[in-house]
Amino acid sequence: MPSFVQEWFFLSFPSINPIVPLKNSFRKKPLALLIEEMKSEHRLNRVLGPLALTSLGIGAIIGTGIFVLIGVAAHDKAGPAVTLSFAIAGLACIFAALCYAEFASMVPVAGSAYTYAYATLGELFAWIIGWDLILEYGIASASVAHGWSHYFQDFIGIFGLGIPFVFTKAPIDFDPSTGVMSMTGAWLDLPAVAIALIVTTVLVKGIKESAGFNAGMVIVKVAIVLLVIFLGAMYVKPENWLPFAPFGYSGISLFGHTIAGDTGAQGAPVGVLAGAAMIFYAYIGFDSISTHAEEAKDPNRTVPFAIIASLLICTVLYIAVAAVITGMLPYNQINIDAPVSNAFKQVGIGWAQFVISLGAITGITSVLLVLMLSQPRIFLAMARDGLLPKSFFGAVHEKFRTPWKSTIMTGFFVALLSAALPLRLLAELVNIGTLFAFVIVCGAVLIMRKSHPDVERPFKVPLVPFVPVMGILTCLVLMFSLPAENWYRLVVWLIIGLLIYIFYGRKHSILNHTEK
Ligand code: ALA
Repeated sequence: MPSFVQEWFFLSFPSINPIVPLKNSFRKKPLALLIEEMKSEHRLNRVLGPLALTSLGIGAIIGTGIFVLIGVAAHDKAGPAVTLSFAIAGLACIFAALCYAEFASMVPVAGSAYTYAYATLGELFAWIIGWDLILEYGIASASVAHGWSHYFQDFIGIFGLGIPFVFTKAPIDFDPSTGVMSMTGAWLDLPAVAIALIVTTVLVKGIKESAGFNAGMVIVKVAIVLLVIFLGAMYVKPENWLPFAPFGYSGISLFGHTIAGDTGAQGAPVGVLAGAAMIFYAYIGFDSISTHAEEAKDPNRTVPFAIIASLLICTVLYIAVAAVITGMLPYNQINIDAPVSNAFKQVGIGWAQFVISLGAITGITSVLLVLMLSQPRIFLAMARDGLLPKSFFGAVHEKFRTPWKSTIMTGFFVALLSAALPLRLLAELVNIGTLFAFVIVCGAVLIMRKSHPDVERPFKVPLVPFVPVMGILTCLVLMFSLPAENWYRLVVWLIIGLLIYIFYGRKHSILNHTEK
């Protein structure tokens, strides 16, 4: 663009001059300010101890990933080696979890990765991460609601019941044989919409009740997972584990070109790493503990403990479930909609199908509960900093002390998206968004160690820089193992976010006003 045109343009529309707005966008939120803010009045209630927090973590983790997506991952991406995919994705998460734990111990305030980025990388990055976390929590909730719907339909099917076809699923889906989107003939996924709205109602009422409700559901789902492992183990036929990796051990693509491993339907890579990139979804949620730091008792210690404990417990359970399910059936006979309960049906234990479906419904409800609990808390943190309208996103209910307006808004969008879009599309978008957030958090630990070496860290990542660097690398490999469209979707999403920041956030930022 000729320079005089640029000059005219920016004089006429100063608010979109990228130089002016971005000039102050690397201002950082001082750590002391974060800690000071925690003492102010309009804070959420501190009611969560280490057990409640760990149970919130497990509540957020075990759900659609292990009960539903394991089917596609084993059937189409990795075969029996999906067990290895679980181990690899778990390892990437452990690196990231250690980094989250260090931050959570250092700045135990609501907002999670968003707040950490604000303190280390500056406002623009913080905004980008906050915006990106909508993919992790908001969009994930929509995908989890789908998983709930699959098991709900499986469950009522046991009694010969069903809902009209038009209400059973989203109107569009991927056709794996052609690799293109196709119409399913259905109108909407009604059970998914219903559960999203029910959970929203519970959440508006309050975190204490929600945490109690969650703990009950976590006990049920862990019991069911243990049942799957121990009962399923009796039906394992080791020959089903062979060939172990029918799709190979890799599966990495670079913007649509497979650079390691084979290419499957949709031109997407297949293999153990591609399986790991998909199954990574199953681990999402441990970081949501850090969004509850403000409601935690003794957060500097309880939050890191809960992050690491919940992730380790789930990693062990997942690897065992994957080994059992792929041992019970040849991988190409594993069902895609409700794989765990269906595996028991196929080996002839009908009662287990009943119990597992019920457990999956309960378990997935708790994931939805925690994810939908987390999203409004990220908005709350962003609104307090002035990056989102405070009157809406910062509103805390007089009686329930919950961010009720944004909880209702989140519920509305979750219901809408889960009604209309298919699980796989949503899940992959969630994965790339979350992996991106993990990369930033691992990087931020390295930066913070240099810029603030003396700040007290009740929990410290061991083996720095090895652990954060490995966190960055493993998450990047998984990002590249996802089908390329996800990168494009992520970029479009981030550009939309950037525009909102330029037009709204940078002007309304509290730090901006403080500096002035
Ligand atoms: N980890 C969560 C699940 O699998 C998102 O449902």
